[in-house]
Amino acid sequence: MALITLRQLLDHAAENSYGVPAFNINNMEQGLAIMEAAKAVDAPVIIQASRGARNYANDIMLAKMIEALAAIYPDIPLCMHQDHGNNEATCMTAIRHGFTSVMMDGSLEGDAKTPASYEYNVDITERVASMAHWVGASVEGELGVLGSLETGEGEAEDGHGAVGKLDHSQLLTDPDQAVDFVKKTQVDALAIACGTSHGAYKFSRKPDGEILAMSVIEAIHKKLPDTHLVMHGSSSVPQELQDIINEFGGAMPQTFGVPVEEIVRGIKMGVRKVNIDTDCRMAMTGQFRRIAEQNKTEFDPRKFLKPAMDAMRDLCRDRFEAFGTAGHASKIKVIPMDDMAKRYADGSLAPKTN
Ligand code: G3H
Ligand code: 13P
Ligand code: ZN
Repeated sequence: MALITLRQLLDHAAENSYGVPAFNINNMEQGLAIMEAAKAVDAPVIIQASRGARNYANDIMLAKMIEALAAIYPDIPLCMHQDHGNNEATCMTAIRHGFTSVMMDGSLEGDAKTPASYEYNVDITERVASMAHWVGASVEGELGVLGSLETGEGEAEDGHGAVGKLDHSQLLTDPDQAVDFVKKTQVDALAIACGTSHGAYKFSRKPDGEILAMSVIEAIHKKLPDTHLVMHGSSSVPQELQDIINEFGGAMPQTFGVPVEEIVRGIKMGVRKVNIDTDCRMAMTGQFRRIAEQNKTEFDPRKFLKPAMDAMRDLCRDRFEAFGTAGHASKIKVIPMDDMAKRYADGSLAPKTN
């Protein structure tokens, strides 16, 4: 059993200058695809579940699945993370179900739609961090609201995210405020806003610095060189996956994601966790469509799911290799959560903000 906390994993990533993709799961097939990829290249893993995933799969099912994945792949350090927790209860129940890490996303209010005040964000994130740290779990906070610099809109596509028009001061994390936020909340990792958004429709053209503000990451990293930064909305929406979906009956309009080379640049500027869900969904859906189109008599779900898992596995493997995660799993000696709790209590894990 090698369940690792986000904090320990990202500390290792920072010491060794690599990034870790955080893949979302909703079901067994996605979990197996990620772990197969990790095993093939000796990469540590972050699996994350959204509130939607917990509703879809059931907390007990997810908890048992993580236990099973950790048992099947005992040599792969596995961090189980709550994605976009909206309040204290979401985060605490995740930890109760065996998650080793939570995101308290206080950039939005509890409805996950209304942009929150800075004071609200600091207050709720600080409270979640102190509770989580008592039991050794890690906490990711978010400062700045995810959304498009092209349209000023959040992420209506997934049914959650900011509603209404946002201005650039909301859509781009302020570096000075980031220092204050980390100091006050004591988060282990900080998600920042730089023009990325969730889902497939991020950019209407290949992004440049106008619409994907990598300069914001650079500025935050200068002020907070020891803070682990997190990029959300970091699917690359590869052209070949759009093409497969459309070749086999899909109708996705042309769109652009975050180029892998920009993420790799981000990793050099302190990005340690890279959130990817859409690319995995697209990899699987392309295969569902292909099988449905090419073999119209097929009705065994496994004949759809196996190629879908293989496609997701290959995508995860590519990201492990591109982000430098490959080759590190066997170098990590997992610290139990109880020991992490003692380190928080004695102050040795306090963020360095000066
Ligand atoms: O936060 C965004 C992830 O892609 C999860 O999406 O809420 O549809 O599971 P979801
Ligand atoms: P994508 O939609 O770009 O995959 O982003 C996922 C994400 O940020 C989950 O928190
Ligand atoms: Zn996200």
